[in-house]
Amino acid sequence: MGDVSRPKLCTAIPGMESRRLARELKKHEVPTVTWVTKKWPVFWRRAKGVHVWDVDGNRFLDLTSAFGVASLGHSHPKVTAAIRKQSRDLCHAMGDVHPAEAKARLCARLSEVTFERWTGGRGEGQAILCNAGFEAVEAALKTAKLFTRKRGVIAFEGAYHGLGYGALEATWRTDFRQPFLDQLGHFVEFVPYPREGAGEEALAAVEKRIRELAGNREIGAILVEPFQGRGGEVIPPAGFLPMLRRLCDRGRMLLIADEIYTGFWRTGKWFGVEHTKVVPDVVCLGKALSGTLPISACVGKSEVMGAWPESAGESLHTSTFLGNPLACAAALASLDVFESEAAGWNVMQKGGVLLDELRRRLGAHPAVKDIRGIGLMAGIEFVAGAKRMPSVLCERLLARGILALPSGSRGEVLGIMPPLVMNGETLQWAAGEIADFGFRISE
Ligand SMILES: Cc1ncc(COP(=O)(O)O)c(C=O)c1O
Repeated sequence: MGDVSRPKLCTAIPGMESRRLARELKKHEVPTVTWVTKKWPVFWRRAKGVHVWDVDGNRFLDLTSAFGVASLGHSHPKVTAAIRKQSRDLCHAMGDVHPAEAKARLCARLSEVTFERWTGGRGEGQAILCNAGFEAVEAALKTAKLFTRKRGVIAFEGAYHGLGYGALEATWRTDFRQPFLDQLGHFVEFVPYPREGAGEEALAAVEKRIRELAGNREIGAILVEPFQGRGGEVIPPAGFLPMLRRLCDRGRMLLIADEIYTGFWRTGKWFGVEHTKVVPDVVCLGKALSGTLPISACVGKSEVMGAWPESAGESLHTSTFLGNPLACAAALASLDVFESEAAGWNVMQKGGVLLDELRRRLGAHPAVKDIRGIGLMAGIEFVAGAKRMPSVLCERLLARGILALPSGSRGEVLGIMPPLVMNGETLQWAAGEIADFGFRISE
């Protein structure tokens, strides 16, 4: 998985073939889906490790892990071998009726890496497998309703939990919500997500607001990202999750940790909650769980998940592809790699190198408001009204052979989410490119 960081570009970006495909796509895909401009996108043909190749033969360094999925690097040999092996035997089964054996093994593994680890073997977890991340969030919301019999949920300003109707209700961004507002369930109350360094008062204000809401309304759960991802790589104060845990314990509310973005070593530990001693009641997993095929999971403490009625022939929550054997095999192989290799990736140390380099080069730049991160999720926040926004910077970086994405509710953050296997030298080089090349044009 050698990191050869220099970009290798054969053609202008996007090249001829990418532009042809973009024109074709514009005719046949609803145009709300793919962002197409003269400078974006490139169409991928293959990917390996930290690199992606497009249809015109250009090679890119991936600072996105393709939405945080390819934490192990693209096409990890152990994961692709597991998919190949599984595909020879069984590609689809009957998830909630006659399941694949891989489903049973995955549910047991998910219990092991979450509640059994968190409780030193005293507790266990039970899972509902899903396909996309938002479905895992919706399974968690349904769990809270069944367990507490209370319909209300507290979520946070800046939160991103996905775009299905249930998850959208808990997603903060008005641009996603507005067109469908009158169809949403209106069971979520938003409170501010405190930021590291905001001081004790900010945390106390959040606590006060939650207490008020929980006192006046039927609130059954707090849904939280341990670190906000798409909200702009936001780091809360250390006391935030412990405070939520206390409030949940006192108010008969479930603490649901959405680890879809932060899970599987992204922040330098198996899960983001492990930066504290907090054990959530339910955890939502996705993205890097399989690193490849669509699969997600809502895993809860067994006592909590016991609120779901036992199937008597018809499942209360299922879907056609639930427990798909290929996706389960990919997830099992990924979990093995995380277990045996992730500690050696030095994610925290490399994240420190990345942040130091970004701060050294850009800390005093007038367009930069903040540079922050934990593990290998980092963000550069721009000042309001900066002449160029991260989206422009991303276009420029693409032309330079680097894949990056804007983040934050207003696209005000340049997000940096490299595969966790990227080496420190390459990260330093990438930080230099962002500073030297990206920012030269973004004053
Ligand atoms: C924290 C979090 N939750 C949920 C989701 C939704 O996942 P999906 O896009 O797979 O539905 C995302 C996606 O970015 C996410 O970051």
